[in-house]
Amino acid sequence: MNNPLILGIESSCDETGLALYQAGQGLLAHTLHSQIALHNEYGGVVPELASRDHVRHALPLLRQALYIAKRSLDDIDAIAFTQGPGLSGALLVGASIANALAYTLDVPTIGVHHLEGHLLSPLLSDPAPSFPFVALLVSGGHTQLMRVDGVGQYTLLGESVDDAAGEAFDKSAKLLGLDYPGGALLAQLAQNGTPGRFKLPRPMLHSGDLDFSFSGLKTAVLLSVQKNTNDDQTRADIAHAAQEAIVDVLAKKALSALGQTGLDQLVVAGGVGANKTLRERLDAAVTRRGGRVFYPDLEFCTDNGAMIAFAGAMRLQKQEGQRDYRFNIKPRWDLQELNYAD
Ligand code: KG4
Ligand code: ZN
Repeated sequence: MNNPLILGIESSCDETGLALYQAGQGLLAHTLHSQIALHNEYGGVVPELASRDHVRHALPLLRQALYIAKRSLDDIDAIAFTQGPGLSGALLVGASIANALAYTLDVPTIGVHHLEGHLLSPLLSDPAPSFPFVALLVSGGHTQLMRVDGVGQYTLLGESVDDAAGEAFDKSAKLLGLDYPGGALLAQLAQNGTPGRFKLPRPMLHSGDLDFSFSGLKTAVLLSVQKNTNDDQTRADIAHAAQEAIVDVLAKKALSALGQTGLDQLVVAGGVGANKTLRERLDAAVTRRGGRVFYPDLEFCTDNGAMIAFAGAMRLQKQEGQRDYRFNIKPRWDLQELNYAD
């Protein structure tokens, strides 16, 4: 297949993302529907509502993407979909649509690992990193440091033993009365915070390995909220301290990962990668040691279809797609299971 056109479908959690990526040409179109408003009143993602909403939006988003890219269904050469990890019902929606369409169009499917999508998403930007690099994956469900030697060559260097960094942001935000998901809102509140008024713990900062722990932070935030009058300034001060604690740990461990691997390129992917303070801290520290940090464009930091279409295109260069359409999903899926020989 010469320069295949790949349709990407993301539906692992609370964003429905569709995208068209063509090898040799790049990203032609991507469309997205976020369910944040839908889940807001429940303070978190309600899986059943998420699945139904993916059903409602996937095909209209596909039509819109085709219209933007000026392509028709018949132009599609392969369909990549998020096979896992994620919410079962939500994954099943994307998998069903991908396989039904692929069967009808007589094209192969590629089941993509959601984190591989995040991991490779900075390659969609210009300038893009080159292999090998260290990746810091920081999303609502995962906090991992990986060594990436190529597509499908991932070595786990360290990960969170409990809450993910995004979860730590979201739980702290909730304790401060902010809406779900609170990461970006907490960052906004922290802008007015007084540096140093509160000092929150940085678990495992000196553990000597590259693992993280964030579950103690929410207890510390809770105690700070309970012990103080919660005027706007105090809430901003606590938000500032929470962000500092999370960013400090992420930056220190990411730097150690560069030191241990001897690599000088750091890729930051996942929703928390949108955090401005984290970006400033990492940029300064990595530049100081002669390295460089790469981020996906802001719109590709959180979940989207473009990263799935792109990861699908990369994998299609290395292996055949599936043509039996007896799909399954993998709600739990270790990224290292993906590794394949060159
Ligand atoms: O990668 P993502 O969109 O979804 C998952 O696969 O989990 O990441 C979502 C996470 C949420 O926890 C959200 O609060 C966090 O990313 N996030 C942020 C910011 N923007 C999104 N956290 C801190 N600062 C931000 N600016
Ligand atoms: Zn994600």
